[in-house]
Amino acid sequence: MDKEMKKPDLNKDDYEIDTLTNDRLIKDHEYDGIRELDNDLPVWLKWMFYLGITIAIVYSIRLFVFKAPDLIQADEYQKEMADFANNNTVAAENAAPFQVKLLTDAASLAKGRETWTKICAACHMADGGGLVGPNMTDNYWIHGNTVQDLYQVVTNGVIQKGMLSYKDQLSDESRLEVVSYVLEKLHGTKPAHPKAPQGKKYE
Ligand code: HEC
Repeated sequence: MDKEMKKPDLNKDDYEIDTLTNDRLIKDHEYDGIRELDNDLPVWLKWMFYLGITIAIVYSIRLFVFKAPDLIQADEYQKEMADFANNNTVAAENAAPFQVKLLTDAASLAKGRETWTKICAACHMADGGGLVGPNMTDNYWIHGNTVQDLYQVVTNGVIQKGMLSYKDQLSDESRLEVVSYVLEKLHGTKPAHPKAPQGKKYE
């Protein structure tokens, strides 16, 4: 392509044509033998440039003329701090201490039953009638009849009497599920071979 045709308005004294490559070179612009071509900027680069200018104008108008709240630094800071405080309250609520309260929903009791048959039935029998460990179906309890009492026994055990501690083997939830299963599903039933009552009678 004839490069001189492309730039008719250019002053002929400002550039010269390379005789070998036909490239247009800027005159008097040579350093250590390196010369600079006199080409147009690529179209994409020009448009990036225009886009940058447009964004800067829009941004400045929003910031200085309309005082857009999302651009004011002090407001942004306040919002971030408020969000942070909110998230921390939620985290603190989630970390609230585990509550030992009788579970009655079917899903929890089903999980409790699973633990019971897998671990506890060996000493207490699957139907809770008792074997090495006491009967869970009657109204007699050695360590109390509340969900907290049972939970305490399962958590800490009564080692010298042969009841193990399940603190490490079962999670808080699993222990609560299994004692809830005892109170909700085993207590008050008629086992095949009930062990003689042990402990105090609770009405
Ligand atoms: C190795 C046998 C053994 C296993 C396994 C066992 N227990 Fe026991 N458990 C006992 C014995 C023995 C006692 C009686 C402790 C005592 O005399 O103070 C007992 C007592 C208890 C008591 C207190 C009963 C009362 O009258 O106060 C509860 C509740 C209990 N076990 C629940 C469980 C649960 C739930 C599991 C399964 C996670 C389990 N046990 C597994 C042997 C066992």
